[in-house]
Amino acid sequence: MLDILRRRIEERLPAPYLTHEAWLGDFRFYVDERVIVPRSFIAELLREQLGPWVEDPEAITSGLDMCTGSGCLAILMAYAFPNARIDAVDLSADALEVARRNVADYGLEEQVSLIRSDLFAALQGRRYDLILSNPPYVNASSMQTLPEEYRREPVGALASGEDGLEHVRVILREAPAHLNKGGLLVVEIGHNRDALEEAFPDLPFTWLETSAGDEHVFLLNREQLT
Ligand SMILES: C[S@@+](CC[C@H](N)C(=O)[O-])C[C@H]1O[C@@H](n2cnc3c(N)ncnc32)[C@H](O)[C@@H]1O
Repeated sequence: MLDILRRRIEERLPAPYLTHEAWLGDFRFYVDERVIVPRSFIAELLREQLGPWVEDPEAITSGLDMCTGSGCLAILMAYAFPNARIDAVDLSADALEVARRNVADYGLEEQVSLIRSDLFAALQGRRYDLILSNPPYVNASSMQTLPEEYRREPVGALASGEDGLEHVRVILREAPAHLNKGGLLVVEIGHNRDALEEAFPDLPFTWLETSAGDEHVFLLNREQLT
């Protein structure tokens, strides 16, 4: 224990990389330096099964966790929507190895499929009732001033171009082709709400309330996206 504390302080390693565990509510996940430490606000929304936006959780039969990292949100989605087959996508083969371990720890291999893909590139023809994503969203200037602890996380899990919107732009463009009628897109975007609304003035974003306020996670349905 003392050794963990010493390394946390002296090496400024995030504690979950030392203990190899991170928690979202009651759910424990294995983590190491191949993945970002789970902390998505979407976890809070899944605890409520995305109500009231999802009226009947049992009616959700397909879901996508885009940019899955450790697989944490895909696993929470599988619990929130027990009738859903979930695809969990990441570009990083290393991250998918961690996700595989977590999916196996929860015995969800039948319900959650791990797919290596550059965003939607390998998902042709697949459609979902619900797409979630906590993509990279740190802009270039913030990347320059990250505290040491964040620098221990994979850069590919954080950086998203000059304005932090590189990934979300692709997600907004591609998601409609991958959503069923009435399907929902829920995306976390960090501190980029103003930049996003400026970039997409015609999209009627619904901002979801989490413990961090109503600036960080938006929801759109397929009809609003098209
Ligand atoms: C902010 S992390 C989120 C991880 C996890 N969903 C969570 O909430 O803890 C973003 C993830 O996106 C992945 N990623 C980055 N670029 C990607 C791309 N072009 N296509 C798919 N995944 C990508 C990274 O490898 C990383 O695992």
